[in-house]
Amino acid sequence: MNILFMGPPGAGKGTQAERIVDEFKVPHISTGDAFRLAMKQGTPLGQKAKEYVDQGLLVPDDVTNGIVRERLLQPDCEQGFLLDGFPRTISQAEALDEMLAAMNRSIDHVINLKVDRSLLLARLTGRRICKSCGSTYHVLFNAPAKDSVCDKCGGELYQRSDDTEEKVGTRLDEYISKTAPLLAYYSDKGLLREVDGEKEIDTVTSDIISYMRGLS
Ligand code: AP5
Ligand code: ZN
Repeated sequence: MNILFMGPPGAGKGTQAERIVDEFKVPHISTGDAFRLAMKQGTPLGQKAKEYVDQGLLVPDDVTNGIVRERLLQPDCEQGFLLDGFPRTISQAEALDEMLAAMNRSIDHVINLKVDRSLLLARLTGRRICKSCGSTYHVLFNAPAKDSVCDKCGGELYQRSDDTEEKVGTRLDEYISKTAPLLAYYSDKGLLREVDGEKEIDTVTSDIISYMRGLS
């Protein structure tokens, strides 16, 4: 199963992706996670990405397409994948179509998590992430049992540097001007499924699973 997750920053793509990959046993490919890892390691890719990520801007298409192309060729993607946060521009979507055509594959589902802009700021500024396993929490909406400690692995929780009010504003503007036009691109291909991302986290997960299992 080849799945794309779309939606504005803070819509819940990462939260739902963690759960859906457990259910469908496909690798979770997040371009945002890949950039953050490269930034932490200080690789040339990380240094390049940092110029953009730290400002809330999209990383150039050629850089982003390159990492996805390389990742999709890994053996664990043979049975499918879940792409989270890619594509984010029409040019990335066209590049993905070419990559998949060259592999004789195609996209099965494009899930768009719909959340009103007014909710996104609170979701992002309250988000906390585990330093060890990458699990996502929220100080109010999905709080860990013990403050600042991951329920799953006991790791320390941190706040992303682009989750400040100012950077969230830039990220939302980037989404509206460059990524939102992709919804028509996939809708025209008959692949787009809108999911209400404002419901409880568990409800959103079951809505996505029942759609992908052909039950709704
Ligand atoms: P990326 O890491 O992809 O960030 P994003 O798209 O801005 O998305 P987020 O990770 O912020 O949000 P999410 O939808 O995953 O929400 P989450 O589940 O965490 O990208 C970061 C940067 O990398 C970009 O700005 C860009 O610079 C670069 N980049 C990445 N991909 C790129 C590309 N393709 N091209 C160019 N540049 C690229 O949820 C948010 C919070 O809400 C959490 O605290 C969660 O607990 C809570 N929450 C989730 N669901 C619910 C719910 N149903 N109810 C209540 N709370 C909820
Ligand atoms: Zn953890």
